[in-house]
Amino acid sequence: MDHFLYRDGVLHAEDVPLTEIARSVGTPAYVYSAATLLRHYSLFDEALAWGPHLVCYAVKAASNVAILKLLGDAGAGMDVVSEGEYRRARAAGVPGDRIVFSGVGKTETEMRHVLADGVRQINIESEPEMRLLSRVAASMGVEVPVTVRVNPDVDAKTHAKIATGRAEDKFGIPIAKARQVYAEIATLPGLRVVGIDVHIGSQLVDLDPFRQAYRKVADLTEALRADGHSIERLDLGGGLGIPYARSNLAPPVPMEYGEVIRDEVGHLGCEIEIEPGRLIAGNAGILMTQTIFVKEGEGRDFLIVDAAMNDLIRPAMYGAHHDIVPVREAAPGVEQQPYDIVGPVCESGDTFAKGRDMVPLSAGDLIAFRSAGAYGAVMSSEYNSRPLIPEVLVQGDQYAVIRPRPTFDEMISRDTIPEWLAPA
Ligand code: LLP
Repeated sequence: MDHFLYRDGVLHAEDVPLTEIARSVGTPAYVYSAATLLRHYSLFDEALAWGPHLVCYAVKAASNVAILKLLGDAGAGMDVVSEGEYRRARAAGVPGDRIVFSGVGKTETEMRHVLADGVRQINIESEPEMRLLSRVAASMGVEVPVTVRVNPDVDAKTHAKIATGRAEDKFGIPIAKARQVYAEIATLPGLRVVGIDVHIGSQLVDLDPFRQAYRKVADLTEALRADGHSIERLDLGGGLGIPYARSNLAPPVPMEYGEVIRDEVGHLGCEIEIEPGRLIAGNAGILMTQTIFVKEGEGRDFLIVDAAMNDLIRPAMYGAHHDIVPVREAAPGVEQQPYDIVGPVCESGDTFAKGRDMVPLSAGDLIAFRSAGAYGAVMSSEYNSRPLIPEVLVQGDQYAVIRPRPTFDEMISRDTIPEWLAPA
């Protein structure tokens, strides 16, 4: 469920007509609904209410500081994968003891920063990382709570680019090797084992791979406890999928996911951490764009819009589907026609949809890409020297620009010309 609904023939974000935002902010723009973000966070929180838990929002999904502030104030922890994300979470007022640091390639500088400023736990992904973290923590005179991310060799049955829990993926330590790695950690200064971490992939629409992975984590918990380690927390990752197409079968909901967690690991008495990103932010955001031209092609019409692959790369990168709807609702009974919906970037890959049935549209019409809140703005670039587009947060009848559209000068003046190229 989200809060983007038609009212009086116009798509609204909560109580604000998107036409009003288009007028004051321009297009293209990302628009988020605070109510949807909070609702999705609460669904996870309620799904784990049977025991101690912390829902650590995966900052990578949508990392605007206003979004982090909204979720952090509601009690969310944060899962971060870089110093930049960590600093964003801290800038949003989230205390270090609610921030989990994940990622395969943490640098020494990043380790030093989070250790100095406070961190709930670091999820170690490799033996070299374990040794470096031990040296860094010991040199700073601190003991850092750690988990090891294990790779359970489970096929998450999702897009290959976002599967992370198969043996061939670069993430984590093979689960078969985990006992050996925990044994080494126990000998290293600066590290204190608190639990186990696992994350098998993203946009999972079936609970079975979660179940398989969590069962392996439960077995490992018992084995590690028998070895004398203190396993008090389980970080079970993110990955629950969302409905991208209204017409599709709906994926499982957080409550069902929470039950799977309870079934598989509930008996262990551990505090549960999860790291959902997409399900919290995905359907809480849309990308609003405007038709520049309708161009008649050979056997097809192109809708050329002012958003492009640099603003939303998911269709080009993963062949992802986003529902695309007109901001002004069509009159009932208007016949649809197929369009190729494309952006202005000079690549054929800059195609959002091919042969998509839409009501007839004209230049100037506003349209919205749904489910664009996660992995939308955060993956954008300035390719073709298109300035990053603004982000807007709506809450009830209020809205605010939470990242302004840069001016062309701001974009260009970040570049500097070396003095040897300047005229004498
Ligand atoms: N935890 C870890 C360690 C992760 O690597 C990820 C996502 C998450 C949590 C959050 O997963 P979620 O709940 O959002 O599925 N750009 C891709 C998705 C990449 C996901 C990367 N890792 C896309 O647009 O589909």
